[in-house]
Amino acid sequence: MVDDVTLHNAWHPVVRAQDIKEGLLTPIRLLGEDLVLWRSKDEIIACLDLCPHRGASLSLGQVEDNTLVCPYHGLAFDNKGECVKIPAHPNLPPPKRACVQTYLTQERYGLVWITLGNPTQDIPTFFAWDEPNFSSVFCGPYHFKSSGCRVVENFLDVAHFPFVHEQVLGSRLHPVVNDYEVDFEADGITLRNVMVWQPNPDGTEQAGSSVYHYRVLRPLTACFSKNTQSGCLTIFFTVTPVEEEECIAWMLLAMNYSSDIPEAEQRAFQDRIVTQDIPIVESQRPKRLPLDLQAEFHLPCDRASVAYRKWLKQLGVTFGTI
Ligand code: FES
Ligand SMILES: [Fe+2]
Repeated sequence: MVDDVTLHNAWHPVVRAQDIKEGLLTPIRLLGEDLVLWRSKDEIIACLDLCPHRGASLSLGQVEDNTLVCPYHGLAFDNKGECVKIPAHPNLPPPKRACVQTYLTQERYGLVWITLGNPTQDIPTFFAWDEPNFSSVFCGPYHFKSSGCRVVENFLDVAHFPFVHEQVLGSRLHPVVNDYEVDFEADGITLRNVMVWQPNPDGTEQAGSSVYHYRVLRPLTACFSKNTQSGCLTIFFTVTPVEEEECIAWMLLAMNYSSDIPEAEQRAFQDRIVTQDIPIVESQRPKRLPLDLQAEFHLPCDRASVAYRKWLKQLGVTFGTI
Protein backbone atom coordinates (compact mmCIF):
# COMPACT_ATOMS: atom_id res chain seq x y z
CA MET A 1 0.00 0.00 0.00
CA VAL A 2 1.22 3.49 -0.83
CA ASP A 3 1.56 5.71 2.21
CA ASP A 4 -0.36 8.49 0.47
CA VAL A 5 -3.74 8.01 2.16
CA THR A 6 -5.39 10.69 0.00
CA LEU A 7 -4.52 9.08 -3.33
CA HIS A 8 -4.88 5.55 -1.93
CA ASN A 9 -8.55 6.31 -1.11
CA ALA A 10 -9.27 8.29 -4.28
CA TRP A 11 -10.84 7.14 -7.54
CA HIS A 12 -8.43 6.99 -10.47
CA PRO A 13 -9.15 6.51 -14.18
CA VAL A 14 -7.02 3.67 -15.51
CA VAL A 15 -8.19 2.62 -18.96
CA ARG A 16 -10.97 3.20 -21.49
CA ALA A 17 -13.95 0.96 -20.67
CA GLN A 18 -14.26 -0.06 -24.32
CA ASP A 19 -10.80 -1.61 -24.14
CA ILE A 20 -11.80 -4.12 -21.43
CA LYS A 21 -13.14 -6.90 -23.62
CA GLU A 22 -14.76 -10.11 -22.50
CA GLY A 23 -12.26 -12.93 -22.13
CA LEU A 24 -9.28 -10.54 -22.10
CA LEU A 25 -6.96 -9.74 -19.23
CA THR A 26 -5.65 -6.20 -19.08
CA PRO A 27 -2.63 -5.51 -16.87
CA ILE A 28 -2.38 -1.95 -15.55
CA ARG A 29 -0.23 -0.11 -13.09
CA LEU A 30 -1.65 2.33 -10.53
CA LEU A 31 0.18 4.04 -7.69
CA GLY A 32 3.09 1.65 -8.17
CA GLU A 33 0.89 -1.48 -7.91
CA ASP A 34 0.39 -4.10 -10.64
CA LEU A 35 -3.29 -4.83 -11.18
CA VAL A 36 -5.21 -6.85 -13.72
CA LEU A 37 -8.66 -6.02 -15.10
CA TRP A 38 -11.15 -8.43 -16.61
CA ARG A 39 -14.85 -8.60 -17.38
CA SER A 40 -17.06 -11.04 -15.49
CA LYS A 41 -20.53 -10.95 -17.04
CA ASP A 42 -21.42 -7.25 -16.84
CA GLU A 43 -18.95 -6.06 -14.25
CA ILE A 44 -15.33 -5.08 -14.54
CA ILE A 45 -13.16 -6.77 -11.93
CA ALA A 46 -9.87 -5.31 -10.76
CA CYS A 47 -7.49 -7.40 -8.72
CA LEU A 48 -3.88 -7.51 -7.72
CA ASP A 49 -1.81 -9.04 -10.54
CA LEU A 50 -0.27 -11.54 -8.15
CA CYS A 51 -1.35 -15.09 -7.51
CA PRO A 52 -1.44 -15.76 -3.74
CA HIS A 53 -0.11 -19.30 -4.34
CA ARG A 54 3.39 -18.78 -5.80
CA GLY A 55 3.26 -15.16 -6.91
CA ALA A 56 2.82 -15.60 -10.68
CA SER A 57 1.29 -12.75 -12.69
CA LEU A 58 -2.39 -13.48 -13.10
CA SER A 59 -2.47 -11.28 -16.21
CA LEU A 60 -0.62 -14.09 -18.02
CA GLY A 61 -3.55 -16.41 -17.31
CA GLN A 62 -6.98 -16.54 -18.86
CA VAL A 63 -10.67 -15.95 -18.21
CA GLU A 64 -12.67 -19.15 -18.10
CA ASP A 65 -16.28 -19.67 -16.90
CA ASN A 66 -16.31 -16.22 -15.29
CA THR A 67 -13.18 -16.96 -13.31
CA LEU A 68 -9.63 -15.74 -13.61
CA VAL A 69 -7.32 -18.74 -14.04
CA CYS A 70 -3.69 -18.46 -12.95
CA PRO A 71 -1.19 -19.37 -15.69
CA TYR A 72 1.04 -21.39 -13.33
CA HIS A 73 -0.99 -24.11 -11.57
CA GLY A 74 -4.43 -23.24 -12.86
CA LEU A 75 -6.06 -22.06 -9.62
CA ALA A 76 -9.28 -20.24 -10.54
CA PHE A 77 -10.52 -17.09 -8.76
CA ASP A 78 -14.05 -15.70 -8.94
CA ASN A 79 -15.21 -12.07 -9.17
CA LYS A 80 -14.70 -11.65 -5.40
CA GLY A 81 -11.14 -12.92 -5.70
CA GLU A 82 -11.96 -16.20 -3.94
CA CYS A 83 -10.36 -19.40 -5.12
CA VAL A 84 -13.00 -21.73 -6.54
CA LYS A 85 -10.85 -24.40 -8.16
CA ILE A 86 -7.55 -26.17 -7.47
CA PRO A 87 -6.90 -28.48 -10.46
CA ALA A 88 -4.23 -30.55 -8.64
CA HIS A 89 -6.65 -31.27 -5.76
CA PRO A 90 -10.23 -31.12 -7.03
CA ASN A 91 -11.68 -32.29 -3.68
CA LEU A 92 -9.64 -30.02 -1.41
CA PRO A 93 -11.55 -27.01 -0.05
CA PRO A 94 -9.46 -23.93 -0.97
CA PRO A 95 -7.37 -22.64 1.95
CA LYS A 96 -8.50 -19.31 3.44
CA ARG A 97 -5.40 -17.58 2.15
CA ALA A 98 -6.17 -18.63 -1.43
CA CYS A 99 -7.75 -15.28 -2.10
CA VAL A 100 -6.73 -12.48 -4.49
CA GLN A 101 -7.09 -8.87 -3.38
CA THR A 102 -9.85 -7.15 -5.42
CA TYR A 103 -10.62 -3.44 -5.73
CA LEU A 104 -13.74 -1.34 -6.29
CA THR A 105 -14.33 -0.27 -9.88
CA GLN A 106 -16.77 2.04 -11.63
CA GLU A 107 -17.29 2.99 -15.24
CA ARG A 108 -17.83 6.68 -15.90
CA TYR A 109 -17.20 9.03 -18.81
CA GLY A 110 -16.12 6.04 -20.89
CA LEU A 111 -13.31 5.29 -18.44
CA VAL A 112 -12.79 2.57 -15.85
CA TRP A 113 -12.06 4.08 -12.43
CA ILE A 114 -10.44 2.18 -9.58
CA THR A 115 -9.76 2.91 -5.97
CA LEU A 116 -7.19 1.01 -3.94
CA GLY A 117 -8.86 2.00 -0.66
CA ASN A 118 -12.10 3.31 0.80
CA PRO A 119 -13.14 6.42 -1.06
CA THR A 120 -14.64 9.30 0.87
CA GLN A 121 -15.53 11.16 -2.34
CA ASP A 122 -17.10 9.96 -5.56
CA ILE A 123 -15.54 10.28 -9.01
CA PRO A 124 -15.33 14.01 -9.79
CA THR A 125 -18.27 15.47 -11.70
CA PHE A 126 -17.89 16.64 -15.26
CA PHE A 127 -20.91 18.94 -15.54
CA ALA A 128 -21.12 18.78 -19.35
CA TRP A 129 -21.22 14.98 -19.62
CA ASP A 130 -24.96 14.54 -19.07
CA GLU A 131 -26.04 17.85 -20.61
CA PRO A 132 -27.97 17.06 -23.78
CA ASN A 133 -26.72 20.18 -25.59
CA PHE A 134 -23.05 19.29 -25.07
CA SER A 135 -21.22 16.87 -27.32
CA SER A 136 -17.98 15.26 -26.16
CA VAL A 137 -14.75 14.21 -27.77
CA PHE A 138 -12.44 11.77 -26.01
CA CYS A 139 -8.71 12.60 -26.18
CA GLY A 140 -5.73 10.65 -24.91
CA PRO A 141 -4.27 8.65 -23.33
CA TYR A 142 -1.16 10.83 -23.06
CA HIS A 143 1.84 9.24 -21.37
CA PHE A 144 4.19 11.45 -19.36
CA LYS A 145 7.41 10.30 -17.72
CA SER A 146 6.80 12.71 -14.89
CA SER A 147 4.67 13.16 -11.80
CA GLY A 148 0.91 13.51 -12.28
CA CYS A 149 1.05 16.64 -10.12
CA ARG A 150 3.52 18.27 -12.52
CA VAL A 151 1.14 17.47 -15.38
CA VAL A 152 -1.91 18.97 -13.63
CA GLU A 153 0.09 22.04 -12.70
CA ASN A 154 1.05 22.44 -16.36
CA PHE A 155 -2.66 22.23 -17.29
CA LEU A 156 -3.30 25.24 -14.99
CA ASP A 157 -0.37 27.27 -16.31
CA VAL A 158 -1.23 29.80 -19.03
CA ALA A 159 2.09 31.69 -18.98
CA HIS A 160 3.68 28.94 -21.10
CA PHE A 161 1.19 29.27 -23.99
CA PRO A 162 3.15 31.92 -25.98
CA PHE A 163 6.33 29.81 -25.80
CA VAL A 164 5.34 26.14 -25.83
CA HIS A 165 2.20 26.61 -27.93
CA GLU A 166 3.25 29.57 -30.05
CA GLN A 167 0.74 30.39 -32.78
CA VAL A 168 -1.56 27.69 -31.46
CA LEU A 169 -2.66 28.87 -28.00
CA GLY A 170 -0.59 32.05 -27.72
CA SER A 171 1.98 34.40 -29.22
CA ARG A 172 5.37 35.65 -28.05
CA LEU A 173 4.16 39.12 -28.98
CA HIS A 174 1.49 38.85 -26.26
CA PRO A 175 3.15 37.11 -23.30
CA VAL A 176 1.67 39.25 -20.50
CA VAL A 177 -0.47 37.45 -17.93
CA ASN A 178 -2.89 39.76 -16.16
CA ASP A 179 -3.90 39.20 -12.56
CA TYR A 180 -6.61 36.62 -12.15
CA GLU A 181 -8.71 35.47 -9.21
CA VAL A 182 -7.89 32.38 -7.19
CA ASP A 183 -10.37 30.91 -4.70
CA PHE A 184 -8.73 28.35 -2.54
CA GLU A 185 -11.06 26.19 -0.48
CA ALA A 186 -10.84 22.84 1.27
CA ASP A 187 -12.64 21.05 -1.59
CA GLY A 188 -10.71 22.55 -4.48
CA ILE A 189 -9.38 25.60 -6.26
CA THR A 190 -11.18 27.96 -8.62
CA LEU A 191 -9.38 30.26 -11.05
CA ARG A 192 -11.49 33.01 -12.58
CA ASN A 193 -10.94 35.49 -15.34
CA VAL A 194 -7.64 34.21 -16.62
CA MET A 195 -7.10 36.34 -19.74
CA VAL A 196 -5.22 34.67 -22.57
CA TRP A 197 -4.36 36.25 -25.90
CA GLN A 198 -4.90 33.72 -28.66
CA PRO A 199 -4.28 33.72 -32.38
CA ASN A 200 -7.56 31.93 -33.07
CA PRO A 201 -9.67 31.71 -29.90
CA ASP A 202 -12.94 30.48 -31.40
CA GLY A 203 -12.12 29.02 -34.78
CA THR A 204 -13.01 32.20 -36.69
CA GLU A 205 -9.32 33.11 -37.23
CA GLN A 206 -9.89 36.42 -35.38
CA ALA A 207 -7.04 36.88 -32.89
CA GLY A 208 -8.08 38.18 -29.49
CA SER A 209 -8.32 37.57 -25.80
CA SER A 210 -10.10 34.60 -24.27
CA VAL A 211 -11.23 34.33 -20.68
CA TYR A 212 -10.43 30.99 -19.08
CA HIS A 213 -11.89 29.52 -15.91
CA TYR A 214 -10.53 26.52 -14.10
CA ARG A 215 -11.72 24.37 -11.26
CA VAL A 216 -9.35 21.92 -9.62
CA LEU A 217 -11.71 19.20 -8.40
CA ARG A 218 -9.30 16.60 -7.05
CA PRO A 219 -5.52 16.40 -6.65
CA LEU A 220 -5.28 14.94 -10.18
CA THR A 221 -8.42 16.24 -11.88
CA ALA A 222 -9.24 19.72 -13.14
CA CYS A 223 -11.85 21.24 -15.40
CA PHE A 224 -11.27 24.14 -17.76
CA SER A 225 -13.89 26.18 -19.57
CA LYS A 226 -14.04 29.17 -21.82
CA ASN A 227 -16.98 31.00 -23.30
CA THR A 228 -16.56 32.11 -26.88
CA GLN A 229 -18.95 33.81 -29.25
CA SER A 230 -20.07 30.38 -30.37
CA GLY A 231 -20.73 28.96 -26.89
CA CYS A 232 -18.99 27.11 -24.09
CA LEU A 233 -15.97 24.88 -24.57
CA THR A 234 -14.94 22.81 -21.58
CA ILE A 235 -12.24 20.23 -20.87
CA PHE A 236 -12.24 17.63 -18.11
CA PHE A 237 -8.61 16.74 -17.50
CA THR A 238 -7.71 13.80 -15.29
CA VAL A 239 -4.48 11.97 -14.64
CA THR A 240 -3.63 8.39 -13.65
CA PRO A 241 -0.73 8.25 -11.18
CA VAL A 242 1.13 5.21 -12.52
CA GLU A 243 4.36 5.72 -10.61
CA GLU A 244 5.69 8.67 -8.65
CA GLU A 245 7.36 9.87 -11.85
CA GLU A 246 5.08 8.44 -14.51
CA CYS A 247 1.46 9.16 -15.34
CA ILE A 248 -1.24 9.04 -18.02
CA ALA A 249 -3.45 12.03 -18.83
CA TRP A 250 -6.99 11.78 -20.22
CA MET A 251 -9.09 14.57 -21.64
CA LEU A 252 -12.78 14.93 -22.34
CA LEU A 253 -13.52 17.90 -24.51
CA ALA A 254 -17.13 19.09 -24.64
CA MET A 255 -18.88 21.99 -26.33
CA ASN A 256 -22.48 23.17 -26.46
CA TYR A 257 -22.36 24.57 -29.98
CA SER A 258 -22.24 22.74 -33.19
CA SER A 259 -18.77 22.73 -34.53
CA ASP A 260 -18.15 21.76 -38.12
CA ILE A 261 -14.68 20.55 -37.11
CA PRO A 262 -14.69 16.73 -37.30
CA GLU A 263 -13.96 14.85 -34.08
CA ALA A 264 -10.72 13.44 -35.47
CA GLU A 265 -9.49 16.96 -36.17
CA GLN A 266 -10.37 18.18 -32.67
CA ARG A 267 -8.54 15.20 -31.24
CA ALA A 268 -5.55 15.88 -33.48
CA PHE A 269 -5.48 19.49 -32.21
CA GLN A 270 -5.35 18.36 -28.56
CA ASP A 271 -2.75 15.72 -29.47
CA ARG A 272 -0.62 18.47 -30.99
CA ILE A 273 -0.89 20.63 -27.84
CA VAL A 274 -0.03 17.78 -25.49
CA THR A 275 2.82 16.65 -27.73
CA GLN A 276 4.28 20.13 -27.28
CA ASP A 277 3.84 19.91 -23.49
CA ILE A 278 5.35 16.45 -22.97
CA PRO A 279 9.08 17.19 -23.55
CA ILE A 280 8.91 20.34 -21.43
CA VAL A 281 7.13 18.70 -18.50
CA GLU A 282 9.37 15.64 -18.70
CA SER A 283 12.41 17.95 -18.59
CA GLN A 284 11.33 19.61 -15.33
CA ARG A 285 13.57 18.81 -12.37
CA PRO A 286 12.79 17.56 -9.90
CA LYS A 287 10.21 15.36 -11.59
CA ARG A 288 8.21 15.28 -8.36
CA LEU A 289 6.35 18.49 -7.61
CA PRO A 290 8.01 20.45 -4.79
CA LEU A 291 5.38 21.36 -2.18
CA ASP A 292 7.81 23.42 -0.13
CA LEU A 293 7.11 26.88 -1.53
CA GLN A 294 10.69 27.91 -0.83
CA ALA A 295 12.03 25.26 -3.21
CA GLU A 296 11.34 27.39 -6.31
CA PHE A 297 10.51 31.05 -6.77
CA HIS A 298 7.06 32.18 -7.87
CA LEU A 299 5.81 35.01 -10.06
CA PRO A 300 2.40 36.70 -9.86
CA CYS A 301 1.28 34.58 -12.84
CA ASP A 302 2.09 31.45 -10.79
CA ARG A 303 -0.61 32.05 -8.19
CA ALA A 304 -2.55 29.04 -9.56
CA SER A 305 0.39 26.73 -9.07
CA VAL A 306 1.12 28.19 -5.63
CA ALA A 307 -2.50 27.51 -4.60
CA TYR A 308 -2.28 24.00 -6.08
CA ARG A 309 0.92 23.18 -4.19
CA LYS A 310 -0.52 24.54 -0.92
CA TRP A 311 -3.69 22.51 -1.42
CA LEU A 312 -1.79 19.27 -2.14
CA LYS A 313 0.23 19.85 1.01
CA GLN A 314 -2.95 20.38 3.05
CA LEU A 315 -4.42 17.18 1.62
CA GLY A 316 -1.25 15.26 2.46
CA VAL A 317 -0.51 14.22 -1.14
CA THR A 318 2.96 12.65 -1.13
CA PHE A 319 2.91 10.41 -4.22
CA GLY A 320 4.66 12.38 -6.97
CA THR A 321 5.60 15.27 -4.70
CA ILE A 322 8.55 16.18 -2.55
S1 FES B 1 1.14 -19.50 -8.74
FE1 FES B 1 -0.89 -19.28 -9.28
S2 FES B 1 -1.69 -21.24 -9.23
FE2 FES B 1 0.30 -21.49 -8.48
FE1 LIG C 1 0.59 23.35 -22.49
